[in-house]
Amino acid sequence: MIAIRSEREIDILRQANQIVGEVLATLAGLVKPGVTTEELDRVAEGMIQLRGGIPAFKGYHGYPAATCISVEEVIVHGIPDDRVIRKGQIVSIDVGVYYKGYYGDAAVTVPCGAIDAQRKRLLDTTDLALSRAIKAARTGNYLSDISKVIERTCKKEKFGVVRAFVGHGIGTEMHEEPQVPNFDTGQRGPALKTGMVIALEPMVNLGTHRVKVLEDGWTAVTADGKPSAHFEHSVVVREEGGEVLSANDTLVWGRREDGKL
Ligand code: MF3
Ligand code: CO
Repeated sequence: MIAIRSEREIDILRQANQIVGEVLATLAGLVKPGVTTEELDRVAEGMIQLRGGIPAFKGYHGYPAATCISVEEVIVHGIPDDRVIRKGQIVSIDVGVYYKGYYGDAAVTVPCGAIDAQRKRLLDTTDLALSRAIKAARTGNYLSDISKVIERTCKKEKFGVVRAFVGHGIGTEMHEEPQVPNFDTGQRGPALKTGMVIALEPMVNLGTHRVKVLEDGWTAVTADGKPSAHFEHSVVVREEGGEVLSANDTLVWGRREDGKL
């Protein structure tokens, strides 16, 4: 069963997700050559606590940190450590917050200084895929409409769409029904209803879609070592398309217009 959230619940989900958006904007601004991923994580944890939230990832199935920071070939679930971020790399930042009984979850990938054209295209395309997915999160559409538009957007650029990880419903649990694949499974899936809340999160690779998980049991890297991007928003299904809960005014993502590529 997919939960339909009341406007009161959506209000709290928005508060949780606003903390996430604020943290992401701050961390994105701190991505500079020489910074380590654990330095970013420390800032995030402090910000979340200061706002009365709880880092949702920490302790989740034993995950050890407040954030996932996934540099270059790391797709998702990069554990913050002493890895130094270098100029020209791309850095995915994923943050989850538990606040007043509800979850917020969003992610963004940012460049460290100037990046090459292929990385730029990867970021633009993944952001566009999320933007189109948000538009497709409208009442009366089917879940597969979201999956298909993401896959189509990325396949056009010949990028590898990750299949091993998916988006998800979000609410009083971080991961709820439904699962949201970023590719066409061949099934129509459930009809989207006003008040469903889902985290849309395309993960897209410059090369192969294939994934390898490192011995730590978390770090997911591309099988060919090429860079990967990840953009995520938590979204309410509405008549006019998805309402983004995790949006932030200083760092804009998931709002790309068609034709801008
Ligand atoms: N945003 C990711 C997700 O939805 C990260 C959570 S994994 C965790 O699955 F283990 F770090 F919590
Ligand atoms: Co998520």
